[in-house]
Amino acid sequence: MLIYYRELVHDLAQRFSDFAKSFDTGAPLYSRIAARVANEPAVLELMSVAPIAQRIPVLLFASAHHLLLDERDHELAQHYPNIARTPPTGDAADLFVRFVLERADAMKELLANRSTQTNEIGRCNWFLFPFAMLDAEVGPLAQVDVGSSAGLNQLFPKLAFDLTPGGLIGEDDGITITCDITGTPPVVTNRPQVIWSMGLDAKPIDVRNDTEVRWLEACVWPDQVERFDRLQRAVSLARRSNIVVEHGDAVDDVAQAIERATQHGHPVVTTSWVLNYLPAERRIAFVEELDRVGSEGDLSWIIAESPYETPDLPGHRGSDELITVITLVTWRAGQRKVQRLATTHPHGHWIHWGN
Ligand SMILES: C[S@@+](CC[C@H](N)C(=O)[O-])C[C@H]1O[C@@H](n2cnc3c(N)ncnc32)[C@H](O)[C@@H]1O
Repeated sequence: MLIYYRELVHDLAQRFSDFAKSFDTGAPLYSRIAARVANEPAVLELMSVAPIAQRIPVLLFASAHHLLLDERDHELAQHYPNIARTPPTGDAADLFVRFVLERADAMKELLANRSTQTNEIGRCNWFLFPFAMLDAEVGPLAQVDVGSSAGLNQLFPKLAFDLTPGGLIGEDDGITITCDITGTPPVVTNRPQVIWSMGLDAKPIDVRNDTEVRWLEACVWPDQVERFDRLQRAVSLARRSNIVVEHGDAVDDVAQAIERATQHGHPVVTTSWVLNYLPAERRIAFVEELDRVGSEGDLSWIIAESPYETPDLPGHRGSDELITVITLVTWRAGQRKVQRLATTHPHGHWIHWGN
């Protein structure tokens, strides 16, 4: 048992130390805290309750952030740019260590039961051009967003897009997302018509549940103030918009969801940073399922995933790119066509059209 803990602490210390080095400019607060936590065995030991795949620095940070969002007047909170109300005092790393050790039980509860979650509305940029291509080809679209989390990517019809170059597309209903474009994508002047959508997720997040929303917020890094603020606005837009996300499995339930979509418009499946969560055989089963459905009726699929993480998806074979690649797969009269469209920033800040 003692050897187990020693190894655990040693491995985790290395992960926190690597995190500190990797993110000293991108996430200065977490980088400073990670450097300190790497030398705090009592904090590292808290993480022994987490599932092995989740023993990662961001789970510890998200758990502490989750508690802190409920204690906004705490001295530590004043070091978090997204929640600070007064100028910070004291050392953030000292305060963090004390904060999590004093709340060891609550921390363990979160560490044991939660996993890191992202639902990034900036990713709607990924769908703009392929949706426009499809709208021009087949008319109004019905989206099935697989792995939709809280359903924020289904807010596409409510967003305005500010492209550089390209200008503004769509009317702003509270959220405009920006995107820097390089290469030569199709010209888009109007927001493509997505007239119906549903989400499917193995562990959907209910935007009406404050605790679940708080976990989503807690997973955003506190230095990313704008992203945090936009997430809060996206959640409130989702609450007003009757977004539907159903509990279901990517492979087992996608065909039925497509059948429902077909009653409203041309069915388009979207998957963004989801299929990397499936084991290879389930990912292959997902592709086979879409091939089966596509052989029976016209269908489109927008893939926004990393080829390195999902080598068995159409268009990904032979590539070991870590970056997000946007690929359009269409089935028309039973014929499948795969088009690699673009590479992109993981949260949609930029898109490079072409190979
Ligand atoms: C990183 S989130 C991505 C959310 C969203 N697509 C986005 O781009 O912001 C991955 C989501 O996939 C879901 N997921 C994982 N495995 C799944 C499965 N087999 N079937 C359906 N959803 C799954 C998770 O519950 C999680 O909500």
